[in-house]
Amino acid sequence: MVRKLALKCLVQLENRNSQISPVIDDVIRNNRLSEVDQRLLTEIVYGTIRWRGHLDWIIQQFTKPSFQFDLQMSSILRIGVYQLLYLDRVPNHAAINETVKLANQKGQKSKNFVNAILRAIQRSTDSLITPTLEVDPISHISLKLSYPKWLVKKWIGQFSLKWALEFCHASNQTAPLSVRANTLRIDRHELAMSLRKDGNEVVESHISPEGLLLTKTKPIRSLKEFQAGLFQVQDEAAQLVAHLLAPQEKSKIVDLCASPGGKTTHLAQLVGNVTNIVAVDLSKNKTERIQENCQRLGITNIDTQVANAKTDQIEALAAADLILIDAPCSGTGTLRRHPDIRWKRTAKQILNLANLQFEILLKVAIQIKSGAVIVYSTCSTEVEENQEVITRFLEACPRFSIEPARDYLPFLPTNAITSDGYLQVFPHTHGVDGTFAVRLRKID
Ligand SMILES: C[S@@+](CC[C@H](N)C(=O)[O-])C[C@H]1O[C@@H](n2cnc3c(N)ncnc32)[C@H](O)[C@@H]1O
Repeated sequence: MVRKLALKCLVQLENRNSQISPVIDDVIRNNRLSEVDQRLLTEIVYGTIRWRGHLDWIIQQFTKPSFQFDLQMSSILRIGVYQLLYLDRVPNHAAINETVKLANQKGQKSKNFVNAILRAIQRSTDSLITPTLEVDPISHISLKLSYPKWLVKKWIGQFSLKWALEFCHASNQTAPLSVRANTLRIDRHELAMSLRKDGNEVVESHISPEGLLLTKTKPIRSLKEFQAGLFQVQDEAAQLVAHLLAPQEKSKIVDLCASPGGKTTHLAQLVGNVTNIVAVDLSKNKTERIQENCQRLGITNIDTQVANAKTDQIEALAAADLILIDAPCSGTGTLRRHPDIRWKRTAKQILNLANLQFEILLKVAIQIKSGAVIVYSTCSTEVEENQEVITRFLEACPRFSIEPARDYLPFLPTNAITSDGYLQVFPHTHGVDGTFAVRLRKID
């Protein structure tokens, strides 16, 4: 049953627009799975997608180059090999037998084929040799750590071989569940105690003042602390962005690109739920998600507005003191949580996103008053979407200057702030999602 559902998820996830977490949540909601089975399903789907490149390479070593698999068959083989290589608690014979059953519908010939391939792989994976790091670093990282070659090549060129290797390793780890205490209702110490009392394992974040890491927990929606709005799920690094904006009680704040409201609700917390905040996103569906989060967290000072930040004149901007642009981006900083991103992104998409980010900044820049501050942030690691967007923007709009992030985030380790004053952290350096943010002030 679990493998059959995993196969269903994987086939569905081939659609470029579907995302792992909602697809799995849907399957869990529509099937009565025990907690153990929910975990197994999640692990097989995430793991098979994360390791897809590596699994395909192994499968290729055991099949003739002329073989063409349909989506169903390649997904069945990937699920089988993933279990053999990565799921220690599933005995090999069970992994093979259960996977062979998935090929039932395809007939006896297909079942024999899956059985033969998996048994051959089980016998001889140890003997497979990938190109070495010294001779062919791009192929080595791509095949061993399961990333597309174009991204590995890009990262080596953009950063360094050492960076790419460490980043790829770290981005293959499962990220801990990170939450932000809703300080309007509870401080993080009390929240940690309450969660521990209920049997969860919790550690305090070293990066974010309100952050907790739930290293072992029950399904999040079942926690009474979640239902009571005592916390918001949010990566530790994402929790730094509202601090970089440094809102004061009387600041007029506009949050563009705000849905689902992780940062908007954090800003509301920091101003004690009093100052009015305008939160903008592209559609009613999107702004409703912000409202849902506000309702659960007991936040009442947010007005939502549907608008396009790239093209629309947004009235609230003229008087705003602080503006957050948490831009749509490639999300390569979040590969731990969204392993499918590596297979879905293209170089062209990254360039299109960089243009969109630049245009949003320009459109906002002309609508705001002197003295106003923009914080621009992404969860991308790509230079095109981060440093290059800001360089282009500062050339186009010389009235803006960078206010060093260190002045607003004094509690961060030195290597979290670049010499240009940007906040920039990565999974391999700080154990958080890759995040970039910069504070820009419009001067006279
Ligand atoms: C990175 S997400 C924002 C996450 C959010 N700030 C949070 O912390 O929960 C980017 C958001 O930008 C929105 N977006 C994309 N293009 C936009 C545009 N032209 N104008 C306004 N919002 C846009 C997307 O709908 C998406 O919700």
